[in-house]
Amino acid sequence: MSLDVSLANWFTRFTYRQRAVTCAVEPVCISPMTPADWPAVRAIYEEGVATGNSTFETSAPEWPAWDAAHRPDCRLVARQDGRVVGWTALTPISSRLAYAGVAEDSIYVAAAARGRGVGRTLLMALVGASEAAGIWTLQAGIFPENAASLALHRACGFQVVGRRRHISCHQGVWRDFMLLERRSALVGLNG
Ligand SMILES: CC(C)(COP(=O)(O)OP(=O)(O)OC[C@H]1O[C@@H](n2cnc3c(N)ncnc32)[C@H](O)[C@@H]1OP(=O)(O)O)[C@@H](O)C(=O)NCCC(=O)NCCS
Repeated sequence: MSLDVSLANWFTRFTYRQRAVTCAVEPVCISPMTPADWPAVRAIYEEGVATGNSTFETSAPEWPAWDAAHRPDCRLVARQDGRVVGWTALTPISSRLAYAGVAEDSIYVAAAARGRGVGRTLLMALVGASEAAGIWTLQAGIFPENAASLALHRACGFQVVGRRRHISCHQGVWRDFMLLERRSALVGLNG
């Protein structure tokens, strides 16, 4: 994929490819998230929070806070039969120019849709969208107990950087976090 392709064109091509390979099973359509998707996105986020192994957050925020915290580009939803069944988005890791191409992903799939490839489709779409947006490193912080997220990120080219011991207290328990990253082979190659 050349990086001068507009994001809109890229989404069109990506969705077309996904339809082509998944139509016979369960079509998963990836598209940019809009504010109208927020109620479904928030409900899926709440399901993730309820697992106790997805995030240090204990509840989903309201739209203004979520909107302010995430990059406006690279917000994607997955739809099946027209319903939002998953979402992913990026948070900048720093306001420093040196880290302008580094962002942390969030990815959540509705409980009823997990284990069927939605997460992998979403994360690979995010990788492509992030590269089109000039991001060279994606990182993820994942509880070691979250086997599904660890497997998902590894399957999409992330590698474990290390284990952060007792990095924060979550509901009265000091928890470890695995730090994973995926360095792009397309973006950020020249000084
Ligand atoms: C983590 C999550 C996004 C994965 O999405 P998903 O749609 O269930 O994942 P997929 O079906 O696409 O599976 C992706 C890979 O992970 C593996 N995997 C999925 N669930 C797994 C599990 N419970 N244990 C081990 N591996 C698992 C799959 O085998 C697959 O690997 P493969 O493609 O090499 O076969 C989803 O489980 C979820 O939303 N969990 C709650 C929220 C959360 O924890 N988000 C991540 C925060 S860091």
